[in-house]
Amino acid sequence: MLAQEIIRAKRDGLVLAADDITALITALTDGSLSEGQAAAFAMAVFFRGLERDEVVALTRAMTHSGEVLDWSGLDRPGPVLDKHSTGRVGDDVSLMLAPMVAACGGFVPMISGRGLGHTGGTLDKLDSIPGYNTRPDAALFRRTVREAGAAIIGQTARLAPADQRLYAIRDVTATVESIPLITASILSKKLAAGLQGLVMDVKSGNGAFMPTLERAEALAASIVDVAGASGLPAAALITRMDAPLAPVAGNALEVSHAVAWLKGEREDARLSQVVMALGARMLRLGGLAASDAAAQGKLEAALRSGAGAERFSRMVAALGGPADFVERPDRYLPVAPVVVPVPAPHAGYVSAIATRSLGLVVVELGGGRHRANDTIDPAVGLGTLKEPGQWVARGEPLALVHARDAASARIAVASVSQAYTLADKPPIAQPMIIASRG
Ligand code: URA
Repeated sequence: MLAQEIIRAKRDGLVLAADDITALITALTDGSLSEGQAAAFAMAVFFRGLERDEVVALTRAMTHSGEVLDWSGLDRPGPVLDKHSTGRVGDDVSLMLAPMVAACGGFVPMISGRGLGHTGGTLDKLDSIPGYNTRPDAALFRRTVREAGAAIIGQTARLAPADQRLYAIRDVTATVESIPLITASILSKKLAAGLQGLVMDVKSGNGAFMPTLERAEALAASIVDVAGASGLPAAALITRMDAPLAPVAGNALEVSHAVAWLKGEREDARLSQVVMALGARMLRLGGLAASDAAAQGKLEAALRSGAGAERFSRMVAALGGPADFVERPDRYLPVAPVVVPVPAPHAGYVSAIATRSLGLVVVELGGGRHRANDTIDPAVGLGTLKEPGQWVARGEPLALVHARDAASARIAVASVSQAYTLADKPPIAQPMIIASRG
């Protein structure tokens, strides 16, 4: 069928045949589908939706639009696992989770993204480690996964190229927020990475990409369902994102924090809950633990023994970073020249944090991007962020602003102050794991 006839059918709310979806994605990949046609298709899907079989067909076509990794020759004794998360602020979970799961017997080839909008990106964080290669060739990627158990790298042009083209078009045509398109986009990359188990961390709250719990639940259900139908065992946790997860937000600051956490130097209860819950699901999906309790026990042992930190160290060294990075991160990570406190305007309990605003402060400081090809400043960001429920005295710092210069620091101080609400009573503590699927 002609591309315009396929688009017309979707525009009119008809269900597309798998062959037509494949033909459209083949044309998208070889460039014969114009940008206008791809945008029209995305908009038709945005309004009309896709049935489950259509999403499965779209996912399959996008997965096979490029290379599909095969880990069977890796000579590895454990399952190939990954987690994917949607929009986040102060979220360095991946940096901890990948080496922790590796320390428990999993193999984690984690293909991560860069930050866009108010959310940070794992690759930008890793770029603050001197020498760390986020674009290794296939041989180095495989070697790192085999030897360290985890390798966090960027998406190559060969992996799900149809998704790369369609995502870029969706990004500028207001068609990102479509659950079937997000499902196919995320799963095509994960299936192309050759996984045997995927855990989704779907965030819900004022710092999240999915604005309401209802939408977060719908995305979680769609991903688990379509992954299952595509032969990929998957589970999803809906986790709270109405405050930064870590007490820091910014690239080098988050790496430093993750290393301290892996070395057992920090507790950070809310963040630890999320890391442990996601890790437990990954171990169970991979058959490395029979119950959540057994999985948590394994993860806690890996943390206590330093095995998680050791895996992170191996990964950094294998990908070109300093061999003693975990022992001496401060020697290598860039530091902002200006560090100023944000004084609390009055005493009170932290009762709410406008998390998205804090993410935007980091962008404005230079730690994130306005446009996809902007360069970022790894050293800037926010440190020692007060958490929900903490008491602060008047004038006590709500956070420290790490800035390149005094002018940007001044603006950031005012914005951070506005992002915090202080009240007479502490807020009711909420569980970090809101719901789970699969
Ligand atoms: N992340 C993705 O990889 N794809 C989407 O469509 C949205 C978020």
